[in-house]
Amino acid sequence: MVRKTSYSNKAFFDESKVIIITGASSGIGKALSLALVRYNPKLVLIARRKRQLLQTAKLLEKENVDVLPIVGDVRNREDRIKFVDFTMKKYGRIDVLVNNAGLGKANLIIDQPEEEIDLLIETNILSLIKMTKHVLPIMQQQESGIIINMSSSLALLPVFPFAVYCATKSAVKVFSDSIRQELKNYGISVSTVMPGSYETEFNKIAGIDEESVPGYAVEKLAVKIAKLVVKPKKNLIQPTSYVPLIWITKRFEFLKNLITLKIAQMINKARIESQIKIDEEIAKTEKEEIKLLVPDKRNN
Ligand SMILES: NC(=O)c1ccc[n+]([C@@H]2O[C@H](COP(=O)([O-])OP(=O)(O)OC[C@H]3O[C@@H](n4cnc5c(N)ncnc54)[C@H](OP(=O)(O)O)[C@@H]3O)[C@@H](O)[C@H]2O)c1
Repeated sequence: MVRKTSYSNKAFFDESKVIIITGASSGIGKALSLALVRYNPKLVLIARRKRQLLQTAKLLEKENVDVLPIVGDVRNREDRIKFVDFTMKKYGRIDVLVNNAGLGKANLIIDQPEEEIDLLIETNILSLIKMTKHVLPIMQQQESGIIINMSSSLALLPVFPFAVYCATKSAVKVFSDSIRQELKNYGISVSTVMPGSYETEFNKIAGIDEESVPGYAVEKLAVKIAKLVVKPKKNLIQPTSYVPLIWITKRFEFLKNLITLKIAQMINKARIESQIKIDEEIAKTEKEEIKLLVPDKRNN
């Protein structure tokens, strides 16, 4: 077989980056993997839900993308080692790590169980730091690499029903800012993504009534994040309308308090509405179960 050595082919291989995306089974991670297709990547997709992860992989394979889906939990040390080992075995390098896996839980700190606090801290920040640490020796040896960390606009606009979530996302931002200068010496860049509210599975998992909190479609955001792979920048705030909002709140404390209180009240209302819907659903199921156990005598 004759190997093609045309310029376009060479360019293809030169530009084909090995990109690991955690949390690629839904939402932003899934949309990002699809938005990256235009850059001819080799994609390593990570998440716990096998069926959803393989669905993302199938969509990419239809686009002729070289995909390696790995089922695993970012909180698990063996899994994190597996993610890196499998990637190195198949592709021999890691150009980009997108630390996207994460979740929120809307709750008041007074009511929040410790297990929920642990889950948020372990997933959103501890695993992100450890995943980063696993790939750094490889990127250091390559003398190049890009780390993209998923924070949130709530890192800059902290709201009370999401206190622990906001704390983790603020930690992501501070971690990224802290390591950036150190890693620059090795040709490694660090970007922080701070999205506003987007339509994903996030609200449902957070316990927020999806109809009460509007969200933007993820596709545009995904295209903007994908661009960081070819042109890294320190911070990406999306949608762009949030940029002046955040600028104003940085300068005027009283406005920050007003805006965060408004957002917090909206989220709290959505949290209560979600709880009411769940309670109603449980009551309905219980009623149906009782009906099955005690059949209506009139029907006999
Ligand atoms: N949507 C928003 O409005 C918004 C705004 C700002 C920031 N963010 C951030 O964006 C990121 C993606 O969220 P999303 O909105 O796309 O929500 P999503 O649809 O719920 O996606 C979350 C992804 O993270 C994965 N994940 C969660 N825990 C994991 C674990 N322990 N190990 C491996 N994978 C795990 C999930 O996969 P499995 O469940 O299959 O493991 C899923 O693929 C999160 O970090 C979130 O905090 C979202």
